[in-house]
Amino acid sequence: MTTGHNVHLLPQTDQLRAIHTIIRDRHCSRQDFVFYSRRVIRLLLEAGLDLLPFAKKDVITPVGATYQGLEFATKICAVPVIRAGEAMEAELREVHPGIRIGKILIQRDKQTKLPHLYYKHLPADIANRHVLLLEPMLATAGSAIAAVDVLLDAGVQEDHIILTNFISSPEGLRRVATERPRVKIVTSAIEDRLNEHAFMIPGIGDFGDRFFGTTDSGAVT
Ligand code: PRP
Repeated sequence: MTTGHNVHLLPQTDQLRAIHTIIRDRHCSRQDFVFYSRRVIRLLLEAGLDLLPFAKKDVITPVGATYQGLEFATKICAVPVIRAGEAMEAELREVHPGIRIGKILIQRDKQTKLPHLYYKHLPADIANRHVLLLEPMLATAGSAIAAVDVLLDAGVQEDHIILTNFISSPEGLRRVATERPRVKIVTSAIEDRLNEHAFMIPGIGDFGDRFFGTTDSGAVT
């Protein structure tokens, strides 16, 4: 599919596909699911940080030479969409220990699959920041767009939002590109399609349930 210029798909290396093979297996243990998905989350976060603006900065090295480098040129924060988005928080703290973190609680109705916003608490100056929006699953994109709209209502610029996403459907990517075209998306996999229940195929099951251990089997829900 054409992913659009704002979709950044991680390089589909053999190692990344091997990790996906472990965690997509319905028999994967929860321990392995958490361990290997966190490795991918780290790659996603690093790729998301790559999309931020940088400014030139020179430093003097220990041998007295000048290194013509770069530094972050913006303030950032992160906003996980509870619940699955919180799976990305620990890795983010590893690379950015002091980062400000807001919260948005959105849950889909089990029958209609439509998102409902229950709670939000954002940094007071979020309008002046770039935002890593942490949302592992992009199926219909209903939840992601609802979360983006919470940020826009708070004054965040649309092109300052980086949707950090584990797996995405072509339908979801197209919807974000059409309805919120300036949002940047980083993802580690683009699925074949959505099925009639709005599950991604081949998919990974319910990411939140598998990561937090709230299903017995960890199998597809
Ligand atoms: C899941 C997932 C996303 C959303 C994606 O959340 O974590 O938030 O569905 O689907 P969509 O693109 O069709 O909106 P769910 O409401 O099941 O809650 P969870 O985070 O607790 O798993």
